[in-house]
Amino acid sequence: MYHSNTVGGAPPLMLKPEQNRALMEVGPGTLMGELMRRYWMPFAAVGEMDKQSTRTVRLLGEDLVLYKDLSGNYGLVDRHCPHRRADMSYAWVEECGLRCNYHGWKFDHTGACIHQPFEEVSHPDARFKDRITIKSYPVAAHAGLLWAYMGPLPAPLVPNWEPFTWSNGFIQIVMTEIPCNWFQCQENSIDPVHFEWLHDSWGARLRRQIDGPAPPTHLRIRFEEFDYGFKYQRIREGQTEQDELWTVGRVCLWPNCLFTGNHFEWRVPVDDEHTLSVGWFFDRVPEEMEPFRQERIPWWYGPLTDASTGRWLDSHVMNQDFVAWVGQGTVADRTQEHLGESDRGVILMRKRMLEEAEVVRAGGAPKALIWDEAVNKRVELPIIDRDFFISGFSITDVVEGRTRGPRYSRSFVFQAGQPAEITAAYREAMGIDRVEQLEASATSASANGAAR
Ligand code: FES
Ligand SMILES: [Fe+2]
Repeated sequence: MYHSNTVGGAPPLMLKPEQNRALMEVGPGTLMGELMRRYWMPFAAVGEMDKQSTRTVRLLGEDLVLYKDLSGNYGLVDRHCPHRRADMSYAWVEECGLRCNYHGWKFDHTGACIHQPFEEVSHPDARFKDRITIKSYPVAAHAGLLWAYMGPLPAPLVPNWEPFTWSNGFIQIVMTEIPCNWFQCQENSIDPVHFEWLHDSWGARLRRQIDGPAPPTHLRIRFEEFDYGFKYQRIREGQTEQDELWTVGRVCLWPNCLFTGNHFEWRVPVDDEHTLSVGWFFDRVPEEMEPFRQERIPWWYGPLTDASTGRWLDSHVMNQDFVAWVGQGTVADRTQEHLGESDRGVILMRKRMLEEAEVVRAGGAPKALIWDEAVNKRVELPIIDRDFFISGFSITDVVEGRTRGPRYSRSFVFQAGQPAEITAAYREAMGIDRVEQLEASATSASANGAAR
């Protein structure tokens, strides 16, 4: 597929324009669009439908309407009524299904037309409605998210990834629509070297910490395919082959997600020029706060731009990623790239995505579909520090510095704009006030000791 299979030398590894287009198109009937339709896509939070019964959705280039009827069934249907094309986001829900506000035709969640008021009065025996359906896709609620399946039936199972089965965690869902194609966002999921530059080095400059030591540089990277995607492993200065970043690695989760152990970031194609970033974050609460349960998983939409400057927000980890993705152009022009050794993972992912898309085109089933209920009880993934998330820790562990790494975070570092009520709920769930009180009294005790 490439002009050359060498890396780091001339001639550069570049895609042809038609290959670039094949990777990025998501509409019905396109190569990648048909591949992506074989997987459940998270596209909204369950909580979004608590106070509204219909909502517009654009997904894989299709305009749709999500609804929740009075029985609690979800449906995802064509934006336009099959009668005379009225906007179904203004339809109303009933006990079972959705009724168009223009002439009252009613549809159930399979898309069947179940009532045509005037037709049934004027031609009661014609059963015109039996010949009418509205385009309709299955929707599932799982892990606080709403998922859509837009491929041929039967649908595979909604993946029950291991962290969805964990308990005693503060979970939150964060979404943002990004004005660029999804594939360049997903390429970031298999790009370990960017951490050192985009987050560590640029992040330090943004915080004006430019006099400190340079962040540890990457010495080795490695990529490996497994059943549910790719693992990428890295060794940076100061780390060894015993480090879990090498022995376990991180996951580029098939087909459109980054998984880092306790959070998922899906890059969901809205259309060829827009991507919905869907983040699912799990923070284990200290054992003093157990049992911890959430009635409703909180969710929020993060802002993209700084209102005072009109520039992209750059203060948080994922905002920095967004800056890189949109900076590549609405659709990255891969005919102009010069790929090097750091891009081995990107090259591998492009190749495998196109291969799997060809499998679908030939009538086959692509990788990473889950059909077996027993497997789906808990689908295990490579997880660094798994024991920490399952066994937990105490507030004393935090105060005495025994929690490892960034596992006990006092603020949300991934995206800017967390609403105050979610910040407050997080602090309470994590016992942060208690930790800070204990730290303050330890500090004053040691100051008193020093003064004596
Ligand atoms: S347009 Fe929907 S019922 Fe007529
Ligand atoms: Fe990143």
